[in-house]
Amino acid sequence: MSGAIPRTLPSLADHHIDHTSAGAEALIADRLRDHGLVTLDSLADRSAVLRLASRVMCLVPHRDSDPDGLTTILHLRRHAQRAGFAGLGPGELAPHTERSGVPVPPRLMLLACERKAETGGECLLTDCRAVYADLAVRAPEALALLSTPRTAFFGDGNGQASQVFTVSPEQRVSVRLRQDDLARWSPFVEPYLPVLREAVIRHQHRLDLDPGQAYLLDNTRWLHARTRFTGGRRFLRALGRPRFAMADGFSVDRGIVTEPLMTEAA
Ligand SMILES: [Fe+2]
Repeated sequence: MSGAIPRTLPSLADHHIDHTSAGAEALIADRLRDHGLVTLDSLADRSAVLRLASRVMCLVPHRDSDPDGLTTILHLRRHAQRAGFAGLGPGELAPHTERSGVPVPPRLMLLACERKAETGGECLLTDCRAVYADLAVRAPEALALLSTPRTAFFGDGNGQASQVFTVSPEQRVSVRLRQDDLARWSPFVEPYLPVLREAVIRHQHRLDLDPGQAYLLDNTRWLHARTRFTGGRRFLRALGRPRFAMADGFSVDRGIVTEPLMTEAA
């Protein structure tokens, strides 16, 4: 096996699964259901990443994906300054949900390192189960507004009206967020965005992946971000639907589900 997930991240090392072990798919499924995150290594090349992705998900294509279904994430100068293309630049990426502007964002995202940046380019991950519990205690009014339907619009003209936290009839929660120029907010919610941003940062984990290492996350529970970088950083991304059953969203502790302030925002 290649190197383990960096020791600077003991909490994330707990999520590591050896995908070469017997029954790895079941272990991955269990961990995704319970924690929404798996870290992996020993992904030697693009075909290994594709094989692993295909074991756990039905890949869904993306605007930028290659014919094999994977997307190569690297700095492409031709997309400089274009809204919605920041992932293909070298800049910092604020915590976000992948494909927040489509009706149903992909449930799973696998991101694997092919080549490290010269400087920077670390992955930053936030578990929104922790963010939700945090806001329920510190800022219940913010949480109620962030759960109010149609208080955000994500994407371009063909984007999606939504809310940051969606509570299902089963009292499970899912998150949807972007913070770039393609996010618009109801004036009711806007004053609470700093509170949300602070909570997301408070629960952020830093993951400095080496070549062959990857993370696999539940895109309705974890937000991902990236620090700015220099050099030829090159990652591979797979998006898709899990090949195993996953209940919608994530569970929250009994009694902390916060009802929206309004059923429908103006
Ligand atoms: Fe992303």
